[in-house]
Amino acid sequence: MFEELLQAPALASWLGLLAGLLAVYLLYSSWTFQDEQKRPPGPRPLPLLGNLHQLDLQRLDNSLFKLSKRYGPVFTVYLGLKKVVVLAGCKTVRQALINHAEEFGEREINPLFHDSAKGHGITFSNGDSWKEMRRFTLTTLRDFGMGKRLSEEKITDECHYLIDEFEKHKGKAFYNKTIISYATSNIISAIMFGKRFDFKDAVLRHMVKNDQEITRLAGSASMVIYNAFPKLGPCLKNWRDIMKNMENTKQHLLHLINKLRETFNPDICRCFVDAFCTRKLSLEESDAHEVHYHNDNLVYSVINLFIAGTDTTSTTLRWSLLLMAKYPQIQDRVQEELSRVVGDRQITMEDRRNLPYIDAVIHETQRFANIVPLSVTRSTSRDVTFQGYFIEKGTTVLPLLTSVLYDESEWETPNTFNPSHFLDEEGKFIKRDAFLPFSAGRRACLGEGLARMELFLFFTHLLQRFRFTPAPGMSEDQLDFTPVVGFTLSPLPHQLCALSRH
Ligand code: HEM
Repeated sequence: MFEELLQAPALASWLGLLAGLLAVYLLYSSWTFQDEQKRPPGPRPLPLLGNLHQLDLQRLDNSLFKLSKRYGPVFTVYLGLKKVVVLAGCKTVRQALINHAEEFGEREINPLFHDSAKGHGITFSNGDSWKEMRRFTLTTLRDFGMGKRLSEEKITDECHYLIDEFEKHKGKAFYNKTIISYATSNIISAIMFGKRFDFKDAVLRHMVKNDQEITRLAGSASMVIYNAFPKLGPCLKNWRDIMKNMENTKQHLLHLINKLRETFNPDICRCFVDAFCTRKLSLEESDAHEVHYHNDNLVYSVINLFIAGTDTTSTTLRWSLLLMAKYPQIQDRVQEELSRVVGDRQITMEDRRNLPYIDAVIHETQRFANIVPLSVTRSTSRDVTFQGYFIEKGTTVLPLLTSVLYDESEWETPNTFNPSHFLDEEGKFIKRDAFLPFSAGRRACLGEGLARMELFLFFTHLLQRFRFTPAPGMSEDQLDFTPVVGFTLSPLPHQLCALSRH
């Protein structure tokens, strides 16, 4: 009879359900019970949902920052079934990323990151392939002048193109988002492909549009859901859109790479793509057993650099102009310093050390704008005991940059735009430990040197030439700092006037 009962479909389903509930219960109790012992604490998760119901997915960084005040600088949250250890506050983030660089130095390859690069390239790869691509890219960027005269010349040229575009508006209000992205995208193109594009070029326009879409969609709430429940991907419009945009970007970049290959001459290195092909060739000729210089690594490294290098820098520049329009007294001081130190002559990188106030304004813009609030998630490379908590190998780790750039114990006025954060009493520029917009450690931003050069040169060239004000009829108070949340935090669409100073 017992056997008969077991064969009855209704009972079998009940037993299945019971087994399922038992599994969920065991998982749930292991989350809560074990974590209280020695794992980082955190809010109690619900089965399947984890803590998703307690988080504002539109501003995940702010929600996590709030939780850090309750659970401390190292705590656990569950995004669905995925366990994430959050690191909060300057001291903790630095201690993990710098003092435990190896343990916290892997990239988490979540479903979205996997879709984006299939483990190739720089940003979403690990192991020897990542090491080789990162090393090669850094050397090549330096060869092409990152932080040196060569890129200074390229950026300065691009500044003049941008100024010409701003001038065309003759002081009338305009949206500056797209044109600034064209300019920053051209800097990456010059390094990647050895050429800049005319601002009217259809390829440039398409690539920048795709890039803006990818950055917007990658930070959307549906991507948090997708990473927690990857099977839902095809049902999510944002996921389908992001895949489409990535494929478009890939096709455009592949086309450019293939055109360079047609005219490739190993004796003349024109750009990053040539440098990659030359390295591949020389390794093949020397019979070295080299497995990393393949097409996928080339294509995905180019995609990574293009996407990471365009939107980040242009978004920061847009914040800087918006902040100048909002705080005319700060803009006065910037322009007074520029007029006194540089006057009307050509600005160079050399000038930076004599422009401490401007340097402070640019740093404070990066702090205040906090454009990559969640950094790019990491993963532990091995078991680690950190601040007394056990974190096992392969755990997703989120270094919360918001909590560093707005750390109340580090900044005198964290919620106010205040360039004095970077100035001593004599008005000299000072470095601050909690200035980590590029993150830190072995996976820290690879383009920091280039980005810092771009920010300085674009900002000073524009401020030398123009006075930035809100659109007519709008007061400074009406300029809104609420960010648009994507993978980066960018200003809401807004118009500014660029009034010629000459
Ligand atoms: C204001 C501009 C920029 C900001 C705020 C910024 C910020 C960041 C941040 C927070 C990360 C994550 C680092 C980590 O995991 O610890 C990152 C990674 C990265 N950035 Fe940037 N970035 C900027 C500009 C650039 C530029 C211009 C390039 C290209 C030349 C670039 C290329 C990269 C790459 C390739 C990575 C991945 C590094 C790796 O995984 O090894 N970034 N960036």
